[in-house]
Amino acid sequence: MISIMIMVLLSQTVESELQKDFYHRSCKSAERKVRRVVREAVTRNPGLGAGLLRMHFHDCFVRGCDASVLVDSTPGNQAEKDSFVNNPSLRGFEVIDEAKAQLEALCPGVVSCADILAFAARDSVSTLRGPSWKIRSGRRDGNVSNVSDVIPNIPAPFFNLQQLTQSFEAKGLFQDEMITLSGAHTIGASHCTSFSNRLYTFNSTTPQDPTLNPQFAEQLKRQCPKINFDPTLRIGMDSFTPDKFDNKYFTDLKLGRGLFTSDEALFTDDKKAAATVKLFSEHTSRFRHKFVKAMIKMSEIQVKTGLEGTIRRNCRVIN
Ligand code: HEM
Ligand SMILES: *[C@@H]1O[C@H](CO)[C@@H](O)[C@H](O)[C@H]1NC(C)=O
Ligand SMILES: *[C@@H]1O[C@H](CO)[C@@H](O)[C@H](O)[C@H]1NC(C)=O
Ligand SMILES: *[C@@H]1O[C@H](CO)[C@@H](O)[C@H](O)[C@H]1NC(C)=O
Repeated sequence: MISIMIMVLLSQTVESELQKDFYHRSCKSAERKVRRVVREAVTRNPGLGAGLLRMHFHDCFVRGCDASVLVDSTPGNQAEKDSFVNNPSLRGFEVIDEAKAQLEALCPGVVSCADILAFAARDSVSTLRGPSWKIRSGRRDGNVSNVSDVIPNIPAPFFNLQQLTQSFEAKGLFQDEMITLSGAHTIGASHCTSFSNRLYTFNSTTPQDPTLNPQFAEQLKRQCPKINFDPTLRIGMDSFTPDKFDNKYFTDLKLGRGLFTSDEALFTDDKKAAATVKLFSEHTSRFRHKFVKAMIKMSEIQVKTGLEGTIRRNCRVIN
């Protein structure tokens, strides 16, 4: 009797967790299809790879990795993607739509949007010459996407080390994992508005952030003038190799070339964090190894599994 109860309990816990190769039986080529779509899109436009990696982060930090970031607003509901944090900067939604359309044609109602996004972020990194790794799947899609959940959960580019650490700890990630994951800024680009305060309005007595390398600041001021700047312009966050997933981001920080306060703070705010930045800048393999571990952890934040949530037919629409 007791052993039967234990077996039932065990099978329930196993059933309601993420699993390696979750779609092995139900949709065998799911991961391969996503990889093909992502590789093609990201090879043509590397910026989309950066967009997909950031999109996964913004998904996982708001209501867990449940594809809430993919939902479109409706007349009765303003969704996460329309927060100023995400719109117009988040990119790559069409890539997810394309992968989802292929999977719906192949195995309708089986593969969640949350898993597709997790696969796509992973495949973006490997396409841009970063590490590749296995991820567990079986995430289910949420049915809530509320614009007011974004700002309280997504760290801001003007955060200092303590604020960044708190923001990640609220999601179960340690400070060194926060530093590691910030290394995602080795790819992609930012709009002027995310850092122009560091050039012109740092504080009431000092217009320019003194931790910013002066030559780099002059270059940024030319690209992002105080008035009449181009609101569509994107500035590479790793000014050396913005389309390559390498460890140059950490070299940037040592040179005062971190684009955001939240980047440079990892090097300037305390000794322990600075030591991690130095380590990663000198040893790519250490960064890659830790990045994989931290990404796996991030991709499992508050996931819905088993009977929770749903499988959306269209990633933009709650069923
Ligand atoms: C540590 C706190 C973080 C802050 C404050 C932050 C903030 C930002 C901001 C402000 C942008 C530029 C948006 C724009 O103006 O276009 C950006 C871009 C980006 N972020 Fe973060 N981020 C953080 C962590 C992360 C993490 C953990 C990841 C992924 C693991 C990530 C991946 C990216 C990528 C890839 C881009 C470039 C997007 C593109 O080119 O479209 N960020 N981030
Ligand atoms: C979104 O969240 C806010 C704040 O928690 C709440 O007041 C509002 O009713 C929510 N909107 C929807 C459509 O549920
Ligand atoms: C402005 O920033 C500078 C450089 O960090 C600092 O020395 C100064 O005390 C700050 N002033 C104010 C009013 O916060
Ligand atoms: C989805 O919405 C229903 C109510 O419409 C609710 O009972 C259920 O818990 C929600 N599921 C998730 C995963 O949020």
